[in-house]
Amino acid sequence: PQTADAPDRRTGPVVVAHRGASGYAPENTLAAVDAAKALGIDWVENDVQRTKDGVLVVVHDTDLKRTTDVEEVFPDRAPWAVKDFTAAEIAQLDAGSWFGERFAETRVPTLTQFLHRLDRNRQKLLLEIKSPASYPGIERDILRVLRKEGWLGPSHVRNRLVIQSFGADSIKEVHALRPDVTTGFLGTPEVTDLPSYAAFTDQINPSYTTIGADYVAAVQRLKGPHGKRLRVNTWTVDSAADAAKVHAYGVDGIISNYPDVVRDATR
Ligand code: G3P
Ligand code: CA
Repeated sequence: PQTADAPDRRTGPVVVAHRGASGYAPENTLAAVDAAKALGIDWVENDVQRTKDGVLVVVHDTDLKRTTDVEEVFPDRAPWAVKDFTAAEIAQLDAGSWFGERFAETRVPTLTQFLHRLDRNRQKLLLEIKSPASYPGIERDILRVLRKEGWLGPSHVRNRLVIQSFGADSIKEVHALRPDVTTGFLGTPEVTDLPSYAAFTDQINPSYTTIGADYVAAVQRLKGPHGKRLRVNTWTVDSAADAAKVHAYGVDGIISNYPDVVRDATR
């Protein structure tokens, strides 16, 4: 079977549903998990942050304005930062109507709710720690929830979980706390700097606009902390033409809002 760590050469690159299948349902919601499931896409990416009262929630922006009705519900709470709201307050928000009326009343899920919605025997999680500098200690909090929900057992760690971030220090911390977990760095380090990343990350996950075949090969020549060659998962690729292009570069995985389009273009 395909994993982010070991793409199946016969079936093309790993395809990851970005923020869930967010071309079809509001990003980072349970509806977006369901949309990925319905498309038969096993890997789901999400973004994790922390509320004022310490609950992990799945939301991309560091404020709640774009994807919820927070300005209407809490007009006096500008700038509406995730970290300034309690979990109970965030649970009141409509995180679906902005995407389409049929998603009205969709909520911002907690990480626990998100994990419960994934099909434990089939689906896999590419968890992004979003804006880690705003949330000291969030790595430990995330690992605690993952452990409680059974996502740090040997088979999940081996096959079903990758933790990534734009914050190198955050990924280093995850690697220090749980050296067995597969990690990814979001970004495009200089080729000369790649060996230093290979000490703590298994994947280099760059924007597709920043790479070519040479860069992919330079990453894949290196071995990561688990002794396997570094992988490249690129984002956010939404057209068949771009998917075919990055497939030709030799990437290991493609992260997409329209994962079905990418799958069809790379098989
Ligand atoms: O998984 C890669 C991608 O999600 C990184 O960018 O801004 O969508 O979190 P962003
Ligand atoms: Ca993300």
